[in-house]
Amino acid sequence: MSLQIDADGRLRHLLTIDGIPKRNLTEILDQADALRSVALRGNKKLPLLRGRTVCNLFFEPSTRTRTTFELAAERLSADVINIDIGSSSTSKGESLLDTLATLEAMHCDLFVVRHPDSGAAHFIAEHAKEGVAVLNAGDGRHAHPTQALLDAYTIRRHKPHFETLTVALVGDLLHSRVARSGLTCLGTLGIGELRAIGPRTLLPPTLDELGVRVFTDFNQGIADCDVVIMLRLQKERMRGALVPSESEYFKRYGLTEERLGRAKPDAIVMHPGPMNRGVEIASEVADGPQSVILEQVSNGLAVRMAVMSQILGAAVKEAT
Ligand code: NCD
Repeated sequence: MSLQIDADGRLRHLLTIDGIPKRNLTEILDQADALRSVALRGNKKLPLLRGRTVCNLFFEPSTRTRTTFELAAERLSADVINIDIGSSSTSKGESLLDTLATLEAMHCDLFVVRHPDSGAAHFIAEHAKEGVAVLNAGDGRHAHPTQALLDAYTIRRHKPHFETLTVALVGDLLHSRVARSGLTCLGTLGIGELRAIGPRTLLPPTLDELGVRVFTDFNQGIADCDVVIMLRLQKERMRGALVPSESEYFKRYGLTEERLGRAKPDAIVMHPGPMNRGVEIASEVADGPQSVILEQVSNGLAVRMAVMSQILGAAVKEAT
């Protein structure tokens, strides 16, 4: 039995998209649809997680992911604890397992974990008490499963016929947990063609095995794409200079209006944030009519509500 899926095929933890069947992924997207409409109502709260406790454990800075997880848990009526690691005992040398045990003693039902080390969420899930769930909110360069799901959801809202689509991920794929989870998620959901575009130094060598078409020339790679997902240059994870100057990078791999003109006329532009304007994306494109970047943030809320409901076994369909 896998750590993530129980004997009845239900999601127990969400640590990575790898190994999660299409059926579970699609169910999350369908539930996000139901929950998204709740966010448009006057009363935005649902009682689905009333009496449950969600602990956001963030060992790395985060704006969008942290706030949407917090809001998602509150919208579902859970009690929410936010642990700021800078001011917790971990910075005094307490081990991860001691921190976990302390929080478990407060009877948390779900840990949402962001950590700079790849595998941290998995480690916590293996050591968590029976009945305590773990949701990975980004671990090192490894995985960011809810970002992958919210990206797939955003694409589905605009372009539901996945098998006909060409989707390109552009930039620093090597250091990107968003790219790793995104490619697996979109592949499992049946996207017609997946492309990776970037300098050789920022493309992982395993892309071919995933059936991804690799381009080092942006103008060629973007031709006739339906969806263009831009990625941030993850300088904090780079050892040594992997790219020339930022202005040189922008010349070759920055998304400008002119370059976007080579994609399909109705192509959408995405970015997980935080964006480096003028490095990977021009402001006219980021704020332009084809950008769905802020929609991604709103959709993140619905998708995170859906994942938390699934993991904690709440019945979304009956409640919405
Ligand atoms: C991403 C992350 O943290 O991996 N951001 C996010 O979750 N919205 C992407 C990034 O930091 O570039």
